[in-house]
Parts: sequence; structure tokens; C-alpha cells
Amino acid sequence: MVSKYSAFAVAFAALLGDANAFWRMNCANIMFGRIDPIVNPGGIASHAHTVQGGSNFGVSSTGVSLANGECTSCEIQDDKSAYWTPMLYYQYPNGSFIDVKQSGSVVYYIGRGNNKTNSVPFPEGFRMISGDSNARSYDNVTRTVSKYGIGRPIADRVSWACLSGTPGKSVPYINNTDCYAGLRAQVHFQSCWNGVDLYKSDQSHVAYLSDIDNGDCPPTHPFLFTHIFLETSFTVNSVSRVEGGRFVLSTGDPTGYSYHADFQNGWNMTTFARAQRECSYNEKSSGDLNECAVLVESYTKNYGSRCPTRNSTVDEPVRGILPKLPGCIKIVEGPQRATSADVNCPSSVTPPKITPTEDGKPLDIRFPQIGKQFGLPDWQYVGCSNDSSSASRVLNAVVTKNATGMTVETCQAYCFGKGYKYAGLELGTECYCDSYMLNNPVINKGSWTQGMCYYQCSGDKLTYCGGQARVDLYVNTKLPQLPFPKTQSASGKYVHKGCMAEITGRILRNASTTGDTMTPDVCAKFCLGRRFKWFGVEYGRECYCGDRVVNQTIADPGDCNILCAGNRGNTQTYCGGASRANVYFSSTL
Ligand SMILES: *[C@@H]1O[C@H](CO)[C@@H](O)[C@H](O)[C@H]1NC(C)=O
Ligand SMILES: *[C@@H]1O[C@H](CO)[C@@H](O)[C@H](O)[C@H]1NC(C)=O
Ligand SMILES: *[C@@H]1O[C@H](CO)[C@@H](O)[C@H](O)[C@H]1NC(C)=O
Ligand SMILES: *[C@@H]1O[C@H](CO)[C@@H](O)[C@H](O)[C@H]1NC(C)=O
Ligand SMILES: *[C@@H]1O[C@H](CO)[C@@H](O)[C@H](O)[C@H]1NC(C)=O
Ligand SMILES: *[C@@H]1O[C@H](CO)[C@@H](O)[C@H](O)[C@H]1NC(C)=O
Ligand SMILES: *[C@@H]1O[C@H](CO)[C@@H](O)[C@H](O)[C@H]1NC(C)=O
Ligand SMILES: *[C@@H]1O[C@H](CO)[C@@H](O)[C@H](O)[C@H]1NC(C)=O
Ligand SMILES: *[C@@H]1O[C@H](CO)[C@@H](O)[C@H](O)[C@H]1NC(C)=O
Ligand SMILES: *[C@@H]1O[C@H](CO)[C@@H](O)[C@H](O)[C@H]1NC(C)=O
Repeated sequence: MVSKYSAFAVAFAALLGDANAFWRMNCANIMFGRIDPIVNPGGIASHAHTVQGGSNFGVSSTGVSLANGECTSCEIQDDKSAYWTPMLYYQYPNGSFIDVKQSGSVVYYIGRGNNKTNSVPFPEGFRMISGDSNARSYDNVTRTVSKYGIGRPIADRVSWACLSGTPGKSVPYINNTDCYAGLRAQVHFQSCWNGVDLYKSDQSHVAYLSDIDNGDCPPTHPFLFTHIFLETSFTVNSVSRVEGGRFVLSTGDPTGYSYHADFQNGWNMTTFARAQRECSYNEKSSGDLNECAVLVESYTKNYGSRCPTRNSTVDEPVRGILPKLPGCIKIVEGPQRATSADVNCPSSVTPPKITPTEDGKPLDIRFPQIGKQFGLPDWQYVGCSNDSSSASRVLNAVVTKNATGMTVETCQAYCFGKGYKYAGLELGTECYCDSYMLNNPVINKGSWTQGMCYYQCSGDKLTYCGGQARVDLYVNTKLPQLPFPKTQSASGKYVHKGCMAEITGRILRNASTTGDTMTPDVCAKFCLGRRFKWFGVEYGRECYCGDRVVNQTIADPGDCNILCAGNRGNTQTYCGGASRANVYFSSTL
């Protein structure tokens, strides 16, 4: 069973108000140091951070290398993301510093946002920063934006609560520090995304909800993420405080305004997508991980000891008594902003040694590029498209599934073997083929693609094979593009509705004809003349019309595998199968 974290739950309810479903995960510390793979990839960060999450964290960690790490210091092992925040120090009157202890963070994933239509999982490789390490005062000017106008100051993303009995009022700066139950730093992340960029250094790929912790996304950032909220409690009263001392953040900030948090997505995307779908918007949720089945599956009780704090990959002390803040960050009291030049080390100081990450190495994931060859020769990647269930798929002709051995190459070979120009992979295990792309596929451009087509191929963990209702499409550049059957085109009266099964007799019962010239066009003409909304072609040479479909059962598109008797030249149209009809519909009759 998952333990509850009631001390946090009480405070959280007070802070966030009314009900939205969420889950809450405890994370122990995985590392301390001047490390920031987002802002200073490969190098040394300006200030020291406390990090929770994936054990493979380091100066050059990426979402993929994190996901490939051995473990995480968080409760949910399928979340190897990293979360990091500035360290807090106490400065003695003699000028020395000591780090203030905290026992990790609590990470909340909350189903916020007024309009959940465009809610999406974090894409693989996604990262973001909330907050401003140079801020030293409250910015009352920069505000959230939505179609309803301007909203709250974005400075409200960061707040501090003094916990002593009942949690104190949250304020955007460090005020009272006599907090026997801890001084809690709180950060709301951006929940709106532009749908394109995995990262922008000015954070313009993301935006805050209009009320920061809820509300509307701006029109420029229409995609909604699950809202991440991070809490870290510093045990300020465990520091033996001396008259004249003060608390200072690793950013050289005694005010608290510069607090911020970084997130690097290292989730198992399959697990995250399920958790978001099944647990983020379920109003009954109280945050208890037990309520979310998919998370319980990867819950670890002894998360802290099973995945203990690692030695820093930047070799310099950041804990204990220190003569200076790490990186010689100068203290800037504000209200003016600090600058990156605010350091007071002699320029001759040798930089600390960087150790590459210890465990795991990045998975060498192969990403296809739109319009470029991928898989077998002569096959190009078309993109990641939306897809529907059997009746109106993008590729409808035949399907093959393999729960253990599906790869992009296997699917391309299968479709080529049957003479199809298009191959599509879905759910990691399914392969569809057709001579045309049907049902108005919308190809997503940019990284959105990888956000939605993120199921690993069952036979090749280093490539992706579509996703949930998302198909990775490939085209064979050598096979000719066959003429599109007129009945399926927009100019025709009828649109193809898929392959349907006859289980309890004919599904179209009003009129019929058969013939060796049968094609969907021939049948369409016959049924159109009789003003029927529906027609279906079956067993190669049969044509049926109806004003309704009786006992319709959607069949596997691969079951409609008999070529039309009337096919001529290089048209390759299917006319149903045994007890299977390719069914067409007109909305204008
Ligand atoms: C400064 O004061 C602290 C607390 O009394 C002490 O631990 C530390 O050693 C002192 N630093 C120096 C350089 O004397
Ligand atoms: C919700 O978002 C969708 C997609 O952006 C949009 O089409 C719809 O109008 C929005 N609904 C409301 C009530 O704003
Ligand atoms: C921010 O500005 C508004 C309007 O100018 C004012 O009412 C409010 O008191 C200000 N808040 C702070 C914290 O300065
Ligand atoms: C700031 O702290 C003092 C006690 O040190 C307290 O009286 C006051 O209410 C606090 N202000 C806010 C806004 O919480
Ligand atoms: C992600 O989780 C699913 C099931 O939850 C599992 O089958 C899959 O192997 C995991 N992927 C990785 C890369 O661990
Ligand atoms: C961590 O650092 C300590 C002290 O420098 C060292 O003894 C220990 O072997 C290191 N651990 C690892 C796993 O490198
Ligand atoms: C894809 O999305 C477009 C636009 O929403 C829609 O018209 C089309 O039917 C969808 N196609 C499939 C195969 O789901
Ligand atoms: C699935 O793929 C594996 C590996 O290619 C193959 O051995 C197996 O026969 C396939 N299974 C099916 C049902 O096609
Ligand atoms: C079509 O057949 C159904 C019975 O399946 C019947 O009720 C209906 O009246 C028929 N329509 C026409 C136009 O003949
Ligand atoms: C439709 O199916 C049900 C059950 O499968 C059957 O009882 C019924 O007779 C069928 N209706 C027609 C019109 O065939």
C-alpha cells in the first residue's frame, strides 16, 4: 500500500482551494551541486541546486538519458524526470554559510485548466523552467494572458509559506523564518504549450494558466499539460541561528524572489499518458497514489533508500560550512535585478572537475524526419497523424499485428509485399497498409509528432511505432500513386465508412445488384440512382443499397480483402470480403 503524506495534504488543500483531480508523489534528493543540464548543458551552473528524480542526472542529462537511468529518488519508478530548485543557506555573522536541510520535495500533478479539449502529455525531451533567478522584487507588471485579457502577475508562480501549526499565508518572498514545521518554497509550473518546441531558453515554448494555478491558456499556447506544482520544505529551525545571520538562496538572494524550479521530462511516456488519461481529470481523486492504478504498478515504498543521493557530478563542496556561496555568487539584496556577473571569486580559481553521468548511457533512439528516408530503402516518413478506430482509419486496406516483433521495417515489408504504397504503425504493435491516405489525416509538425507518436515498437525499443489514436505514416517512393476511387473523393457523393461485418444477415437490405464490372463507382451509381444514403460492395462483385445499416458491426479493415471484379488498369480497389462489405455513406441524400 502507498503511504499517505497527510502533513502536506492539509497544507495543499488550503493553498489550492477547490477540487481538481491530482496525484502527489514524494521525492527524496538525488543530487546537490552546481548542475543545470537545461541552462548550462555540459558545463557548470552559476548557482547550486537540489535535485530530485532520475539517478542518471548530470551536467548533460537529457530526458532520454534520465529515462534510461537505474532508478529515481521519487516514489513512482516510471517517472525518472528530474526536478531541481536552488539550495537555501544560512549566513553566519562571520560571513560563512551553511546549507539548510530539506528532505526532498513533493511533486503534484493536477488536472487544472478550464478547457481540457487540447490536453496532451509532456512530449519526450520536453523541459522548462518556472521562475527567475535574477529577480529580487515582485514584478507586478508581467502578467498572464488569455483570450479573456490579462490575468495575474506571473510572479505569483513562486511563493513561501511559514509552517508553524497551521500553514501561514503564502507570500512571494521570504518573510517570517521562525517556522518550526518548516519554511516551504512552492512553485507552479507553466501548463500551456505552443505545441512545437521542446525548449526555448526564454521559456516562450510554454505559458502560465491565466490564474497561474488554474484558468485558461493563451491562444498562442493552446495545448494543456497536467499542472505541476512543487513543494520543498526547509527545516529552518534546525539551523542554530545567531544574531545578525540571515537566510540566503544559492542565487545570492536573501529575498526569496529568485526561487525557481526546473523540470526535465524523463517519464515512461506510456505510463504518463495513461496516468494523465485515467487519473488527472477524475474528480474523486484526493491525491493518494493508490487511486491511480497505473502509478501503483510502479510505486516504490523505499524510494529514498533504494535510490540514494548520488555524489555530485561537479566536484566541489556545496553542503556543510562554506566560506562563500558555491560559484562565489555575490549577494544582491535588490530591489534591482541581479546579473550573471555578480560573482566575487578571483578570476584565477580553477573550475571544479566534471564527472560524466555514472549509470546508464543515453538510448540511441532513432527519430524519422518528415520527407526523409527511414526504415527500408524507398520508404519515406510522412509524419505522425491522428487516426480513428477501425471504421475510418487513415490506412484501411489491410492490417497485421505483432505484440512482440513489430518494427517499422517489418510493416513496410508487409505492405510492400501486398502492393500497397502506404504503411502506418500504431500502438507499437499494429501495421496498416493502403494505396491512399484516407479520412483527412492531420500530420503534426515539429516535436508535437514525438509527443503523440511515442509508443516504442514492440520489436525495436529504439524506434517509435505510432501511439494511441496516432499513426506514424510511411510512403513508398517507388510504387506509383494509384488514382483515387472517385467515390471516396470529396467530389463524390459518398465517403468510405470502413469494412463492416454481416453477422445477422445483410446489413444493407433495400436494393442490390451484382456483376463482373463491379467497383465502388459502379455500385455508387446504382444506389445513387435509387437515392439511398448507404451502399456497400461485397465479395468482389456484389452491390447493396440501404436507407440504413442493419446491425452494423465494424470489422477489421484487413477482412475486406477481395479485389473488385471491375478493377481495370492499375486501379486496385477492394470490394469487401466474405460476409464483409466496404460501406459508403452520403450525408446529402
Ligand atoms: C562562522 O561561524 C559558524 C557558526 O558559529 C562556525 O561554525 C564557523 O566555523 C565560523 N566560520 C569561521 C570562518 O570562523
Ligand atoms: C476549448 O478548446 C478548443 C480547442 O482549442 C476550442 O475549439 C474550444 O472552443 C474551447 N472551448 C471553450 C469553451 O473555450
Ligand atoms: C499591483 O498593481 C495593482 C494595480 O496597479 C495594485 O492594485 C496592487 O496592489 C499591486 N500589487 C502589488 C503587490 O504591488
Ligand atoms: C511576516 O512575518 C511577520 C512575523 O515575522 C508576521 O507578523 C507577518 O504577518 C508576516 N507577513 C505576512 C504577509 O505573512
Ligand atoms: C513503460 O511502461 C510500460 C508499461 O507501463 C512498459 O511496458 C514499458 O516497457 C516501459 N518502457 C520503458 C522504456 O521502460
Ligand atoms: C562518493 O564520494 C565519496 C567521498 O568523496 C567517495 O568515498 C565515494 O566512493 C563516492 N561514491 C561513488 C559512488 O563514487
Ligand atoms: C483527423 O483530424 C481531422 C481534423 O480534426 C478530422 O477531420 C479527421 O477526420 C481526423 N482523421 C482521422 C483519421 O481521425
Ligand atoms: C512477430 O515477430 C517475430 C519477430 O520478427 C516473429 O518471429 C513472429 O513470428 C511474429 N509473430 C507473428 C504473429 O507474426
Ligand atoms: C428499406 O428497407 C427497410 C427494411 O430493412 C424498410 O423498412 C424501408 O422502408 C426500406 N426503404 C425503402 C426506401 O424501400
Ligand atoms: C440484430 O441482431 C440481434 C442480435 O444479434 C438479432 O436478435 C436481430 O434479429 C438482428 N436484427 C435484424 C434485423 O437482423
